[in-house]
Amino acid sequence: MSDSTSPPPSRSQKTLARVLGGVTRGVILRVTQSPRIAPYVQRHGLRWGASRFVAGESLDDCIEVLHDLGRRGFRSYAIVLGESVTDREAVARAVATHAEMVRRLGAEPLGVTMAMKLTQLGLSIDEDLAFENALEVLSLAREHRMFIRLDMESSAHVDATLRIYRRLRGEGLSNTGVVIQSYLRRSAGDLAALLDEGVNVRLVKGAYLESPDVAFQRKADVDRNYIRLIEMALDRASFTAVATHDDAVLDRVSAWVGSRRDGLDGRFEFQLLYGVRPNLSERLVAAGHPVRICVPYGSQWYIYLGRRLAERPANLVFALRSLRGR
Ligand code: FDA
Repeated sequence: MSDSTSPPPSRSQKTLARVLGGVTRGVILRVTQSPRIAPYVQRHGLRWGASRFVAGESLDDCIEVLHDLGRRGFRSYAIVLGESVTDREAVARAVATHAEMVRRLGAEPLGVTMAMKLTQLGLSIDEDLAFENALEVLSLAREHRMFIRLDMESSAHVDATLRIYRRLRGEGLSNTGVVIQSYLRRSAGDLAALLDEGVNVRLVKGAYLESPDVAFQRKADVDRNYIRLIEMALDRASFTAVATHDDAVLDRVSAWVGSRRDGLDGRFEFQLLYGVRPNLSERLVAAGHPVRICVPYGSQWYIYLGRRLAERPANLVFALRSLRGR
């Protein structure tokens, strides 16, 4: 069954998808993140099929999608795209954008949450700067009763992200949580410590290119560790978001939650990415599961798109088709 809402692919597109399916995740991540290719694509303003995965360039575009999802029974969270910012003025602009999101989204009857990346708020410049900026945004969010999760980025940032999370909690900000990636060898240890602190955690497999000394390279190992982390978190975390499009995992967690008399009592939800396997998210909601969709917006869609292409190389067919249509 196709999970796309696009027109069905032609025979030649299916063949191309099969061929591209053999291209590895690492190759696509390296190519799309190449400093030579990124500016070319952005300079020519090619959207490269990004509209399938991104709500639009403005917060208004994002809010429209959030309303639509709400009408269809989904929870959602918003992110503004951008990361690895090394310019202080751009960091200040990102802080202002996040503050505007909190005010606008907090005023809408949507019940949405947000997520943010610490390298967008200054972590690539200075850890204290990122902490101060996150503190400012989260303090405002608390006034608006809004939850903002700290996304997890590449392994080089994990220690700093967890340190900042703990400092924020130390400041009394309980409206935040973290993300743990199952491809990292360290993650079970990190999660065990966080569970003792009453963490609100999102569990993902991990989207960055990581070396064998820090990350499992075989998908089977990443998947096995993912199940292990879910089993650790579901009972003990203050809240667990199982963020994956993996049928086997979703079926297993659905059965497990269904078998519990308390149904985990509101302490769990599935999370999916906007535009990825939309039929799957519809199916989960129809079955009565709590499902939150991550809705990104903004002009910095390029790196985000690269990751979505790397996760499923056949997506390149759709990207190339949209290029040809220009
Ligand atoms: P897996 O790769 O095993 O895929 C399962 C199924 O879904 C397969 O059939 C596959 O083809 C399909 N699929 C997966 N990706 C697809 C795509 N892009 N298009 C079409 N089909 C696709 N990572 C991170 O490092 N830090 C973070 O903070 C986050 N945050 C985050 C939030 C949410 C809500 C989600 C769903 C994911 C993340 N991720 C993330 C990304 C995550 O680490 C991972 O890269 C993707 O979820 C893809 O892996 P799956 O778990 O879906 O499994």
